[in-house]
Amino acid sequence: TSNVQPSKVTSVKTLTESADLKTIPSNYAYTPTDPNEADVLEEEVSIPIIDFSLLTSAIPEQRFKAIQDLDKACQDWGFFMVVNHGVPESLLKGIINASTEFFNLPEEEKKEFAGKNISDPIRCGSTLSTSNGKKFLWRDFVKLVVQPDQFQAPHKPLGFSEVALEYCNSGRRIVRELLKAISESLGLDNDYVAKTLNLDSSVQVFSANLYPPCPQPELAVGLPPHSDHGLFTLLIQNDVPGLQVKHNGKWVTINPFPNSFLVNAADQLEIFSNGKYKSIIHRAILNNKATRVSIAMINGPSFETSVAPASKLVDSENHPAAYRPMNYKEYVEQQPLQWKSLLDQVRIEV
Ligand code: SIN
Ligand code: FE2
Repeated sequence: TSNVQPSKVTSVKTLTESADLKTIPSNYAYTPTDPNEADVLEEEVSIPIIDFSLLTSAIPEQRFKAIQDLDKACQDWGFFMVVNHGVPESLLKGIINASTEFFNLPEEEKKEFAGKNISDPIRCGSTLSTSNGKKFLWRDFVKLVVQPDQFQAPHKPLGFSEVALEYCNSGRRIVRELLKAISESLGLDNDYVAKTLNLDSSVQVFSANLYPPCPQPELAVGLPPHSDHGLFTLLIQNDVPGLQVKHNGKWVTINPFPNSFLVNAADQLEIFSNGKYKSIIHRAILNNKATRVSIAMINGPSFETSVAPASKLVDSENHPAAYRPMNYKEYVEQQPLQWKSLLDQVRIEV
Protein backbone atom coordinates (compact mmCIF):
# COMPACT_ATOMS: atom_id res chain seq x y z
CA THR A 1 0.00 0.00 0.00
CA SER A 2 2.88 2.38 0.55
CA ASN A 3 4.10 4.02 -2.60
CA VAL A 4 7.78 4.49 -1.82
CA GLN A 5 9.67 1.35 -0.98
CA PRO A 6 13.27 0.41 -0.68
CA SER A 7 14.18 -1.67 -3.62
CA LYS A 8 16.37 -4.67 -4.03
CA VAL A 9 17.11 -3.89 -7.66
CA THR A 10 20.30 -2.52 -9.12
CA SER A 11 21.62 0.71 -7.73
CA VAL A 12 21.59 3.76 -9.99
CA LYS A 13 25.38 3.77 -9.73
CA THR A 14 25.58 0.25 -11.18
CA LEU A 15 23.06 1.15 -13.86
CA THR A 16 25.15 4.10 -15.04
CA GLU A 17 28.42 2.18 -14.89
CA SER A 18 27.27 -1.03 -16.55
CA ALA A 19 26.47 0.53 -19.93
CA ASP A 20 27.12 3.67 -21.91
CA LEU A 21 23.63 5.05 -21.40
CA LYS A 22 22.41 7.65 -23.91
CA THR A 23 18.84 7.70 -22.62
CA ILE A 24 17.27 6.85 -19.30
CA PRO A 25 15.38 3.55 -18.89
CA SER A 26 11.65 4.27 -18.98
CA ASN A 27 11.16 3.24 -15.37
CA TYR A 28 13.21 6.27 -14.31
CA ALA A 29 11.08 8.78 -16.25
CA TYR A 30 9.64 11.34 -13.86
CA THR A 31 6.27 13.03 -14.29
CA PRO A 32 6.11 16.30 -12.37
CA THR A 33 3.20 16.52 -9.96
CA ASP A 34 3.63 20.19 -9.10
CA PRO A 35 2.33 22.72 -11.68
CA ASN A 36 5.29 25.02 -10.91
CA GLU A 37 7.86 22.32 -11.31
CA ALA A 38 9.63 24.02 -14.23
CA ASP A 39 9.58 27.49 -12.71
CA VAL A 40 13.27 27.98 -11.90
CA LEU A 41 14.57 31.42 -10.94
CA GLU A 42 17.44 32.35 -13.28
CA GLU A 43 18.99 35.18 -11.24
CA GLU A 44 21.45 34.52 -8.45
CA VAL A 45 19.82 35.16 -5.09
CA SER A 46 21.56 35.41 -1.78
CA ILE A 47 20.11 33.18 0.87
CA PRO A 48 20.14 34.14 4.57
CA ILE A 49 23.40 33.52 6.44
CA ILE A 50 23.53 32.72 10.14
CA ASP A 51 26.84 33.25 11.91
CA PHE A 52 26.89 30.47 14.49
CA SER A 53 29.71 32.10 16.47
CA LEU A 54 27.43 35.09 17.12
CA LEU A 55 24.52 32.86 18.05
CA THR A 56 26.68 31.33 20.79
CA SER A 57 28.41 34.58 21.71
CA ALA A 58 28.77 35.61 25.34
CA ILE A 59 28.09 39.21 24.31
CA PRO A 60 24.31 39.64 24.70
CA GLU A 61 23.96 42.18 21.86
CA GLN A 62 25.69 39.87 19.40
CA ARG A 63 23.57 36.92 20.37
CA PHE A 64 20.40 39.00 20.26
CA LYS A 65 21.19 40.17 16.73
CA ALA A 66 21.92 36.60 15.60
CA ILE A 67 18.61 35.39 17.06
CA GLN A 68 16.81 38.14 15.14
CA ASP A 69 18.58 37.04 11.95
CA LEU A 70 17.54 33.45 12.59
CA ASP A 71 13.94 34.46 13.23
CA LYS A 72 13.85 36.43 10.00
CA ALA A 73 15.52 33.65 7.99
CA CYS A 74 12.98 31.13 9.28
CA GLN A 75 10.05 33.41 8.50
CA ASP A 76 11.18 34.68 5.09
CA TRP A 77 12.80 31.51 3.75
CA GLY A 78 12.63 28.55 6.12
CA PHE A 79 16.14 28.02 4.82
CA PHE A 80 19.59 29.42 5.58
CA MET A 81 23.31 28.80 5.53
CA VAL A 82 25.23 28.40 8.79
CA VAL A 83 28.84 29.65 8.85
CA ASN A 84 31.49 29.79 11.61
CA HIS A 85 29.99 26.66 13.15
CA GLY A 86 33.25 25.24 14.44
CA VAL A 87 32.87 21.80 12.86
CA PRO A 88 36.27 21.05 11.32
CA GLU A 89 36.56 20.91 7.56
CA SER A 90 38.27 17.52 7.95
CA LEU A 91 35.07 16.07 9.45
CA LEU A 92 32.86 17.51 6.68
CA LYS A 93 35.21 16.16 4.00
CA GLY A 94 35.59 12.95 5.99
CA ILE A 95 31.89 12.10 6.02
CA ILE A 96 31.49 12.92 2.31
CA ASN A 97 34.48 10.70 1.48
CA ALA A 98 33.44 7.85 3.76
CA SER A 99 29.92 7.89 2.27
CA THR A 100 31.33 7.91 -1.26
CA GLU A 101 33.42 4.87 -0.33
CA PHE A 102 30.34 3.17 1.02
CA PHE A 103 28.60 3.60 -2.36
CA ASN A 104 31.74 2.28 -4.04
CA LEU A 105 31.52 -1.05 -2.20
CA PRO A 106 30.57 -3.98 -4.46
CA GLU A 107 26.77 -4.31 -4.74
CA GLU A 108 26.98 -7.74 -3.12
CA GLU A 109 28.56 -6.28 -0.01
CA LYS A 110 26.00 -3.47 0.31
CA LYS A 111 23.10 -5.96 0.28
CA GLU A 112 23.83 -6.80 3.90
CA PHE A 113 22.69 -3.27 4.82
CA ALA A 114 19.57 -3.06 2.63
CA GLY A 115 17.07 -3.21 5.52
CA LYS A 116 13.33 -3.73 5.18
CA ASN A 117 11.32 -1.17 7.12
CA ILE A 118 11.54 2.59 7.31
CA SER A 119 12.40 2.41 11.02
CA ASP A 120 15.30 -0.04 10.58
CA PRO A 121 18.44 1.56 12.03
CA ILE A 122 20.38 0.97 8.81
CA ARG A 123 19.00 0.93 5.27
CA CYS A 124 20.49 1.40 1.83
CA GLY A 125 19.33 1.07 -1.75
CA SER A 126 17.42 3.15 -4.24
CA THR A 127 13.78 4.15 -4.14
CA LEU A 128 10.89 2.87 -6.17
CA SER A 129 8.16 5.47 -6.10
CA THR A 130 4.75 4.26 -7.15
CA SER A 131 2.90 7.56 -7.00
CA ASN A 132 3.15 7.96 -10.81
CA GLY A 133 3.34 4.36 -11.80
CA LYS A 134 6.37 2.36 -10.76
CA LYS A 135 9.24 4.78 -11.21
CA PHE A 136 12.68 4.92 -9.66
CA LEU A 137 14.38 7.96 -8.26
CA TRP A 138 17.83 8.67 -9.75
CA ARG A 139 19.54 8.34 -6.40
CA ASP A 140 21.22 5.76 -4.20
CA PHE A 141 21.10 6.23 -0.45
CA VAL A 142 22.32 4.91 2.85
CA LYS A 143 20.27 5.92 5.90
CA LEU A 144 20.90 5.61 9.63
CA VAL A 145 18.31 6.21 12.34
CA VAL A 146 20.29 7.56 15.30
CA GLN A 147 19.40 8.30 18.92
CA PRO A 148 21.85 9.50 21.60
CA ASP A 149 22.57 6.04 23.02
CA GLN A 150 21.68 4.08 19.94
CA PHE A 151 24.14 4.32 17.13
CA GLN A 152 24.39 1.63 14.47
CA ALA A 153 26.19 2.00 11.16
CA PRO A 154 27.60 -0.32 8.49
CA HIS A 155 30.88 -1.88 9.64
CA LYS A 156 32.39 -1.16 6.23
CA PRO A 157 34.11 0.61 4.61
CA LEU A 158 36.75 0.95 7.28
CA GLY A 159 36.21 4.07 9.41
CA PHE A 160 32.71 4.85 8.09
CA SER A 161 30.99 4.13 11.38
CA GLU A 162 33.41 6.26 13.43
CA VAL A 163 33.20 9.30 11.18
CA ALA A 164 29.40 9.00 10.91
CA LEU A 165 29.08 8.96 14.71
CA GLU A 166 31.29 12.01 15.08
CA TYR A 167 29.37 13.81 12.35
CA CYS A 168 26.00 13.01 13.94
CA ASN A 169 27.23 14.28 17.32
CA SER A 170 28.44 17.55 15.79
CA GLY A 171 25.13 18.01 14.01
CA ARG A 172 23.22 17.35 17.21
CA ARG A 173 25.18 20.08 19.01
CA ILE A 174 24.51 22.62 16.28
CA VAL A 175 20.79 21.87 16.12
CA ARG A 176 20.55 22.05 19.90
CA GLU A 177 21.97 25.60 19.79
CA LEU A 178 19.69 26.58 16.92
CA LEU A 179 16.69 25.38 18.88
CA LYS A 180 17.77 27.29 21.98
CA ALA A 181 17.76 30.40 19.83
CA ILE A 182 14.41 29.42 18.31
CA SER A 183 12.93 29.11 21.82
CA GLU A 184 13.96 32.69 22.40
CA SER A 185 12.78 33.94 19.05
CA LEU A 186 9.37 32.46 19.84
CA GLY A 187 9.37 34.37 23.13
CA LEU A 188 9.88 31.24 25.27
CA ASP A 189 12.54 30.28 27.82
CA ASN A 190 15.67 29.16 26.04
CA ASP A 191 15.32 25.54 27.19
CA TYR A 192 11.63 25.37 26.30
CA VAL A 193 12.02 23.47 23.02
CA ALA A 194 14.60 21.11 24.51
CA LYS A 195 12.34 20.24 27.44
CA THR A 196 9.02 20.10 25.64
CA LEU A 197 10.32 18.06 22.71
CA ASN A 198 12.65 15.86 24.78
CA LEU A 199 15.80 16.73 22.89
CA ASP A 200 17.93 14.70 25.30
CA SER A 201 16.62 11.67 23.45
CA SER A 202 16.17 13.29 20.05
CA VAL A 203 16.17 11.31 16.81
CA GLN A 204 18.43 11.98 13.85
CA VAL A 205 17.99 10.46 10.43
CA PHE A 206 21.31 10.52 8.61
CA SER A 207 20.99 10.09 4.82
CA ALA A 208 23.93 9.98 2.46
CA ASN A 209 22.72 10.45 -1.12
CA LEU A 210 24.53 9.62 -4.34
CA TYR A 211 23.23 11.12 -7.60
CA PRO A 212 25.22 9.68 -10.54
CA PRO A 213 25.37 11.71 -13.78
CA CYS A 214 22.14 11.26 -15.73
CA PRO A 215 22.11 11.22 -19.56
CA GLN A 216 18.73 13.05 -19.63
CA PRO A 217 18.78 15.04 -16.40
CA GLU A 218 15.54 16.90 -17.08
CA LEU A 219 13.56 13.66 -17.56
CA ALA A 220 14.44 12.00 -14.25
CA VAL A 221 14.63 13.29 -10.68
CA GLY A 222 16.97 12.80 -7.73
CA LEU A 223 14.37 13.64 -5.12
CA PRO A 224 10.94 15.03 -6.04
CA PRO A 225 9.60 18.10 -4.18
CA HIS A 226 9.06 17.33 -0.51
CA SER A 227 9.40 18.76 2.99
CA ASP A 228 11.33 17.02 5.77
CA HIS A 229 9.64 15.50 8.81
CA GLY A 230 11.91 16.77 11.63
CA LEU A 231 12.64 20.15 13.21
CA PHE A 232 15.76 21.22 11.29
CA THR A 233 17.66 19.39 8.54
CA LEU A 234 21.40 19.98 8.10
CA LEU A 235 22.78 19.41 4.63
CA ILE A 236 26.27 19.34 3.17
CA GLN A 237 27.34 18.27 -0.31
CA ASN A 238 30.41 17.72 -2.45
CA ASP A 239 31.14 20.55 -4.88
CA VAL A 240 28.32 19.57 -7.30
CA PRO A 241 25.11 21.64 -7.06
CA GLY A 242 21.63 20.09 -7.28
CA LEU A 243 19.57 21.28 -4.33
CA GLN A 244 16.70 23.62 -5.14
CA VAL A 245 14.38 25.21 -2.60
CA LYS A 246 11.00 26.73 -3.29
CA HIS A 247 10.93 30.42 -2.47
CA ASN A 248 8.04 32.74 -3.36
CA GLY A 249 6.66 30.14 -5.75
CA LYS A 250 9.89 29.66 -7.72
CA TRP A 251 12.70 27.12 -7.52
CA VAL A 252 15.99 28.60 -6.39
CA THR A 253 19.25 26.73 -7.02
CA ILE A 254 21.47 26.74 -3.95
CA ASN A 255 25.22 27.28 -4.24
CA PRO A 256 26.51 27.09 -0.67
CA PHE A 257 29.79 28.52 0.63
CA PRO A 258 32.37 25.78 1.07
CA ASN A 259 32.28 24.24 4.58
CA SER A 260 28.92 25.77 5.47
CA PHE A 261 25.83 23.88 6.58
CA LEU A 262 22.61 24.36 4.68
CA VAL A 263 19.72 24.25 7.13
CA ASN A 264 16.03 23.99 6.46
CA ALA A 265 13.07 24.34 8.78
CA ALA A 266 11.00 21.15 8.71
CA ASP A 267 7.51 19.92 9.57
CA GLN A 268 7.81 19.57 13.38
CA LEU A 269 9.13 23.12 13.65
CA GLU A 270 6.20 24.41 11.61
CA ILE A 271 3.81 22.55 13.90
CA PHE A 272 5.55 23.58 17.13
CA SER A 273 5.71 27.25 16.10
CA ASN A 274 2.03 27.06 15.11
CA GLY A 275 2.90 28.03 11.55
CA LYS A 276 5.17 30.99 12.28
CA TYR A 277 8.03 29.10 10.66
CA LYS A 278 7.17 27.16 7.52
CA SER A 279 8.68 23.83 6.55
CA ILE A 280 10.35 24.50 3.22
CA ILE A 281 9.72 22.47 0.06
CA HIS A 282 12.90 21.35 -1.69
CA ARG A 283 14.11 18.85 -4.30
CA ALA A 284 17.29 17.40 -5.78
CA ILE A 285 17.81 17.82 -9.52
CA LEU A 286 20.32 16.06 -11.76
CA ASN A 287 23.09 16.85 -14.22
CA ASN A 288 24.79 14.88 -16.99
CA LYS A 289 28.42 15.49 -15.99
CA ALA A 290 29.33 14.88 -12.39
CA THR A 291 28.32 12.67 -9.50
CA ARG A 292 26.71 14.59 -6.67
CA VAL A 293 26.97 13.45 -3.06
CA SER A 294 24.92 15.05 -0.31
CA ILE A 295 24.53 14.28 3.38
CA ALA A 296 21.11 15.26 4.74
CA MET A 297 20.62 14.95 8.47
CA ILE A 298 17.08 15.27 9.73
CA ASN A 299 16.97 16.29 13.41
CA GLY A 300 13.72 15.68 15.20
CA PRO A 301 12.33 15.48 18.73
CA SER A 302 12.31 12.10 20.49
CA PHE A 303 10.14 9.43 18.86
CA GLU A 304 7.83 9.33 21.90
CA THR A 305 7.04 13.05 21.81
CA SER A 306 3.60 14.18 20.86
CA VAL A 307 4.27 17.35 18.88
CA ALA A 308 1.71 20.13 18.93
CA PRO A 309 1.82 23.92 18.71
CA ALA A 310 3.62 25.23 21.84
CA SER A 311 0.88 25.89 24.37
CA LYS A 312 2.32 29.32 25.15
CA LEU A 313 1.83 30.32 21.52
CA VAL A 314 -1.81 29.26 21.38
CA ASP A 315 -4.88 31.00 22.65
CA SER A 316 -8.30 29.98 21.43
CA GLU A 317 -9.41 33.57 20.73
CA ASN A 318 -6.67 35.05 18.60
CA HIS A 319 -4.20 32.24 17.90
CA PRO A 320 -6.03 28.93 17.70
CA ALA A 321 -3.93 25.80 17.18
CA ALA A 322 -3.47 25.27 13.46
CA TYR A 323 -2.20 21.67 13.78
CA ARG A 324 -3.40 18.70 15.75
CA PRO A 325 -0.95 16.80 17.96
CA MET A 326 0.76 13.74 16.58
CA ASN A 327 3.35 11.41 17.99
CA TYR A 328 6.64 11.93 16.12
CA LYS A 329 7.21 8.24 15.47
CA GLU A 330 3.73 7.89 14.04
CA TYR A 331 4.39 10.94 11.86
CA VAL A 332 7.67 9.52 10.53
CA GLU A 333 6.10 6.17 9.77
CA GLN A 334 3.62 7.84 7.45
CA GLN A 335 6.50 9.12 5.35
CA PRO A 336 6.23 6.39 2.70
CA LEU A 337 2.61 7.18 1.96
CA GLN A 338 3.22 10.16 -0.26
CA TRP A 339 5.79 12.64 -1.44
CA LYS A 340 3.62 15.64 -0.81
CA SER A 341 3.69 17.22 2.60
CA LEU A 342 2.59 15.08 5.51
CA LEU A 343 1.54 18.30 7.17
CA ASP A 344 -1.77 18.02 5.35
CA GLN A 345 -2.65 15.25 7.75
CA VAL A 346 -2.31 17.35 10.89
CA ARG A 347 -3.35 20.76 9.61
CA ILE A 348 -6.55 22.14 11.12
CA GLU A 349 -8.57 24.35 8.81
CA VAL A 350 -9.51 27.46 10.79
C1 SIN B 1 17.15 15.74 0.86
O1 SIN B 1 16.21 16.49 0.64
O2 SIN B 1 17.06 14.87 1.72
C2 SIN B 1 18.45 15.82 0.10
C3 SIN B 1 18.47 16.94 -0.89
C4 SIN B 1 19.81 17.03 -1.55
O3 SIN B 1 20.43 16.04 -1.92
O4 SIN B 1 20.27 18.18 -1.77
FE1 FE2 C 1 14.73 16.66 2.19
